[in-house]
Amino acid sequence: MAANKKLLILPGDGIGPEVMREVRRVIDWMDRRRMVTFDVSEDYVGGASIDARGAPITDNCMQAAKDADAILFGSVGGPKWDGIGFDKRPEVAILRLRKELDLFANLRPAIVFDPLVDASTLKADVIRGLDIMIVRESTGGIYFGEPRGVETMANGEKRGFDTETYTTSEIERVARVGFELARKRGNKLCSVEKANVMQSGLFWRQTVTALQKAEYPDVELSHMYADNCAMQLVRNPRQFDVIVTSNIFGDLLSDLASMLTGSLGMLPSATLGAVQPSGKRHALYEPIHGSAPDIAGKGVANPLAQILSFAMLLRYSFEMNEDADLIEKACVNVLGSGLRTADIMGPGTARVGTGVMGESILRELEKLSA
Ligand code: IPM
Ligand code: MG
Repeated sequence: MAANKKLLILPGDGIGPEVMREVRRVIDWMDRRRMVTFDVSEDYVGGASIDARGAPITDNCMQAAKDADAILFGSVGGPKWDGIGFDKRPEVAILRLRKELDLFANLRPAIVFDPLVDASTLKADVIRGLDIMIVRESTGGIYFGEPRGVETMANGEKRGFDTETYTTSEIERVARVGFELARKRGNKLCSVEKANVMQSGLFWRQTVTALQKAEYPDVELSHMYADNCAMQLVRNPRQFDVIVTSNIFGDLLSDLASMLTGSLGMLPSATLGAVQPSGKRHALYEPIHGSAPDIAGKGVANPLAQILSFAMLLRYSFEMNEDADLIEKACVNVLGSGLRTADIMGPGTARVGTGVMGESILRELEKLSA
C-alpha cells in the first residue's frame, strides 16, 4: 500500500537529533519492509534554529508544520541558550507550534512495561501493570494567559505576573477528549484543579461536571485537587484511568507520573488539535523527556520514547494500528531480552548505547514481521 503521508521531523537540541536518528532507521525499515512511503522533511527547531536561522522557529517551518499530516518533534533547549531573551528562547518553538496549530489536547500516557517494573523508584507492587493517561490542556491557562509581564509599581518595587484563564469552550473541548478516551479504556475520568483556591479552578470543576451530566453520564467522573493528585499518584497510581487537567498542572503531574514508570526516557506523547471539516487534524508527537544536555552527543540516550512517539503518530494520525503495535511490541521484547540504556539499568541487565538499542529494535521488527 503506497501512501503519501507528509511527515515533518524536528529533532531540535541536545539528545533530540541522536534519538531521532534511530526513528529514521525505523522509518527506512518501514519503507523497505512494510511498503509505506512517507514524504519526510526535516528542519531546525529550538536552539539549533536560533543558531542556523536566528529564531527558535521560522515562519517557513511553521508553514511546513501546518501543511504536514503529522509532526515528530524531538526536544529543545540547553545551557547554550540560557542567556537569550525571554521571547527568543528555544522553548518558544514548541509553545508556538502548540498555540498556532491549536494543539489543545496533550495526551501523556504513563505505562509500566513489565520488564521495567524494577526500574521505578517505587515498589514493584505499587506500579506493576500501571496504565494511566494524562490529558493536559496545552494551548491555554497560565502558559498563554494575559496580562503577563513585569511592571514597576507606584512605590518603585517591581512585580512579575501571569494569568490563569480558561473559557467554557477551552475546558469543554479538552474534557471531551478525556471523556472519549475514558470510554475506550476503564471508563473513569478524574478532573484535576485547585477549586479550593482558584476561581478558574472552581469554574473548571463546574464546567466539567455540567458536561458530564449533559454528554457523558455513562463515564464515572471524579474531581481532585492538584496537590492531592500528586500525592495519590505516588501513593496508589493505579486508582487512576484518565486524568484531565490544565496546562500547568498537567506539566507537573505528567513529569511526576512518568517517573512512576522508571524513566523519563520511556514515555511518548501526542498533542492533538480539533478535527477540521476537511477531516484533517493537526498533530504533534514528542517524547516527554527534554533535551538532556548533560548526556547529549555521548550516544547513551534512550531512544525508546522517541520511537514510541513515532508509534503513537502511526496510531493517532494514520490509523496504522498494526504497525504501531509492531513497534511497541519490538520495544517491549528488546527490553525483555535484558538490553538497557543507562537510564533504565537494573540488576542482571546489559547496558547498551543509543545506536545498539535502535539496531536491536530493527532486528526485533525483522523477527516479528518475518
Ligand atoms: C513539556 C515541557 C514544556 C512545557 C517546555 C519545554 C516549554 O516542559 O512539554 O512538558 O512546559 O510545556
Ligand atoms: Mg514539562
